[in-house]
Amino acid sequence: MPAIVLVGAQWGDEGKGKATDLMGRDVDYVVKFNGGNNAGHTVVIDGQKFALHLLPSGILSPGVVPVIGNGVVIDLKVLFEELDGLQARGVDTSRLRISANAHVIAPYNRTLDQVNERFLGKRKIGTTGRGIGPTYADKMNRIGVRIQDLFDEAILRQKVESALDYKNQVLVKLYNRRAIDADLVIEELLSYVPRLAPMVTDTSLELEQALDAGKNVLLEAGQATLLDVDHGTYPFVTSSSATAGGACTGSGIPPTRVSRVIAILKAYTTRVGEGPFPTELFDDDGEFLRKTGAEYGTTTGRPRRTGWLDTVIGRYATRINGVTDFVITKLDVLTGLEKVPVCVAYEVDGVRHDQMPVNQSDFHHAKPIYEELDGWFEDITHCRTFDELPAAAQRYVLRVEELIGARVSAIGVGPGREAIIERHPLLDK
Ligand code: GDP
Ligand code: IMO
Ligand code: MG
Repeated sequence: MPAIVLVGAQWGDEGKGKATDLMGRDVDYVVKFNGGNNAGHTVVIDGQKFALHLLPSGILSPGVVPVIGNGVVIDLKVLFEELDGLQARGVDTSRLRISANAHVIAPYNRTLDQVNERFLGKRKIGTTGRGIGPTYADKMNRIGVRIQDLFDEAILRQKVESALDYKNQVLVKLYNRRAIDADLVIEELLSYVPRLAPMVTDTSLELEQALDAGKNVLLEAGQATLLDVDHGTYPFVTSSSATAGGACTGSGIPPTRVSRVIAILKAYTTRVGEGPFPTELFDDDGEFLRKTGAEYGTTTGRPRRTGWLDTVIGRYATRINGVTDFVITKLDVLTGLEKVPVCVAYEVDGVRHDQMPVNQSDFHHAKPIYEELDGWFEDITHCRTFDELPAAAQRYVLRVEELIGARVSAIGVGPGREAIIERHPLLDK
């Protein structure tokens, strides 16, 4: 069977967790392929709220094998805290598989992420402070610690000591902080080994065997298209490949195995952290979206920046990811607005741009060109078919579909697992 990729279309928090959970009922494996505990996915099942950071959202579906792929960076303390939290709520986490090639977020990288940001001052990225950037930098710099290194104390010592030789110079001489003791780091990392060992495997091989056996594999992105290190709003991005291409490198599944790419698009836009955001609102409408959409970060609790839907970004997501199906989430949040503006293009220094400008400084100066669509006032949270939606809400979806250039296969009308309208099946059954 083919693999399916699920990505975020905007700057994250589109509702990927809910969509993964929804599909979790019909898939056999859910693989997280990038990022770490910078992600925050809220899933609501029978009124019960689950907040996941590091674990794939598929862990909540009985029968699914959740996999942490090689492209993920793992904070082991967070991993076991999250597993303990789920187990205490009766979730069976025993099937979790972890790639031996995934990188470990060493405690010194958490420290460095936070002090780097303080050092940058006004130029900060607004990271989640979880050590993500420094850990991926170590990976590319070939001084990272991988999960498999924890099983050989001599190798682990060599890697931690050589990383700290350099990093302690930076901490002490540049940031005026205390040096970090390699022995303490090694001791902490080794303490996780007994619990970790049974979960670690060659996940790429296991996934290939699963696909050969006809199983369904869902590859779930953390973050989103505009936070991707290559295709996002660099440097205001995360440090991993959050787009569909990253699903292959981050899991070890080849592109020839992927048959569909599902992108999650919020019916409006949000962003956490710094960086350009053309449709951002600073007025009552922005506050309306934040309040009605409960737009406060799952990971850091920060209020999310809010704005109208930007279909230039939607089209870009279609192009970069090869989107076959969109899921529009949070359509219910737009209920009660007389008019709903949708950005269809940008104006930059008097020139119209229908496509995402390749030059970041153009994007910084982009002024949205809006089309005003009619709003609706009826409660749509109980709608379960497209026909039940008010005519104006239907027109909103159809116009957006036209603008982003790929079909809208499902529409979210509330946070709960059941609050979804399926127009086309998301899985080939
Ligand atoms: P993720 O990071 O992409 O998984 O998204 P988050 O979980 O960070 O943020 C999405 C939020 O929207 C969560 O609180 C979800 O429970 C909620 N949500 C998802 N889909 C819908 C929807 O269709 N309507 C409403 N009102 N809330 C939704
Ligand atoms: P999910 O998976 C929204 C943002 C941070 C910051 C930038 C870099 O829930 O959609 P990092 O800690 O990754 O180095 O921070 O990326 N960011 C997210 N924003 N949703 C996320 O994940 C995010 N993960 C990182 O706010 O601007
Ligand atoms: Mg989130």
